[in-house]
Amino acid sequence: MYNLVVFASGNGSTLQAIIGNIENGTLSANIRLVVSDNPNAYALERAKAHNIPTYVIKAKTFKERDIELSEVLSKIPINLIVLAGYLKMIGPKLLEKYTLINTHPSLLPKYGGKGMHGMNVHQAVIDAHEPYSGVTVHFVNSEYDKGTIISQTKVAVDKTDTAESLSAKVQRAEKIQLVNVINDFINGNL
Ligand code: GAR
Repeated sequence: MYNLVVFASGNGSTLQAIIGNIENGTLSANIRLVVSDNPNAYALERAKAHNIPTYVIKAKTFKERDIELSEVLSKIPINLIVLAGYLKMIGPKLLEKYTLINTHPSLLPKYGGKGMHGMNVHQAVIDAHEPYSGVTVHFVNSEYDKGTIISQTKVAVDKTDTAESLSAKVQRAEKIQLVNVINDFINGNL
């Protein structure tokens, strides 16, 4: 079985999409662990509701977080780590040992980098009157949103869109795209 670990800091609707696609047989995978830096993340409740083990990071610094996570993760089999709305930088120990991918709600390299997450991204796209936004799934490296791009989906921005309506459209596309990318990993196509 293909073993996934999902990192999430917030609501966890992306995690929920992965769980749903495992449960309906689209993804032949197990989620071994859901990791969060935020003890109040709703993603943790979603995991518990599906009997998926959870882990809340205790460390407060980048370096300590890397050491703590490398110890915790060393105890479980992992093929792929998916960042699904996880907002912290990944440290060198994890980058060295694991394949990590991230989903970002814009057409990178536009609207990426530190502080660019979730609604901040969509508001910036609306403020700039962009005709398109979208989704980027990419490998994770030592810089925010700078890893090699795996795939992108374009989403049209309508004149009447708000950050909220754009977010809803992008997140719909994002869930489909991310599941497709994970499937490509499972099938050895990536
Ligand atoms: C997702 O749209 C994801 O792309 C974004 O946060 C959202 C998480 O939603 N991630 C980033 O912005 C990372 N820079 P969720 O908590 O409902 O899954």
